[in-house]
Amino acid sequence: MPADAIILKHPLIEHKLAILRNRETPNPLFRATLNELSYLVVYEITRDLALRPVEIHTPLAPCTVQQLAEQILLIPILRAGLGMVDGILHLLPTAKIGHIGVYRNEETLQPVEYYCKLPPGAEAMRVFLLDPMLATGGSLAYAITRLKEQGIRQISVVSILAAPEGIAALQAAHPDVTLYCAALDERLNEQGYILPGLGDCGDRLFGTL
Ligand code: PRP
Ligand code: URA
Repeated sequence: MPADAIILKHPLIEHKLAILRNRETPNPLFRATLNELSYLVVYEITRDLALRPVEIHTPLAPCTVQQLAEQILLIPILRAGLGMVDGILHLLPTAKIGHIGVYRNEETLQPVEYYCKLPPGAEAMRVFLLDPMLATGGSLAYAITRLKEQGIRQISVVSILAAPEGIAALQAAHPDVTLYCAALDERLNEQGYILPGLGDCGDRLFGTL
């Protein structure tokens, strides 16, 4: 595994993954659990965020406190990345949010872009690019290329399930980008789905099966 693909290990992450993988899990529980899992993953990966000293007054005395120094930008890849945003906003409520719409052509598995809206000044922000599924890696690699075209350089990928094929493709295309995910699965099937996986994440989130 490449040095900058980091699989997070935590009992709560395992437990919530079990809920997502189970085909009996109904849409509302799937949605809630994906958000909770995204919260846990981001909690684990934000230990290195920069802080800056700020002078405040407590009710009793002046005090120097530490606050986040970096502006965080969440960029979900539509649709399934949307299922991660609310959970992460519980931790990072002042994050800005951009959107990139990319879907896979079901026959060629090639990414197709249909939307991109980023806030002004995005190039100076620390970006968490959100997509729960890293299968062939085509969608994430494409999205990263688009962000780099906009001058964005500080990009971390936050994912949930990754296939070895997708990690290798992402590493080859963007060796400077760190990938964090909750589990490394076995392989892709003939249709490009992750095995054992959790099925089609967008469909399970939005009830479009
Ligand atoms: C899914 C998923 C990823 C992509 C992963 O999206 O959310 O974006 O597939 O596959 P890849 O690594 O092979 O590119 P999908 O194309 O199904 O669109 P959707 O989220 O709108 O359902
Ligand atoms: N997209 C999904 O939603 N699931 C997979 O297993 C692969 C791509």
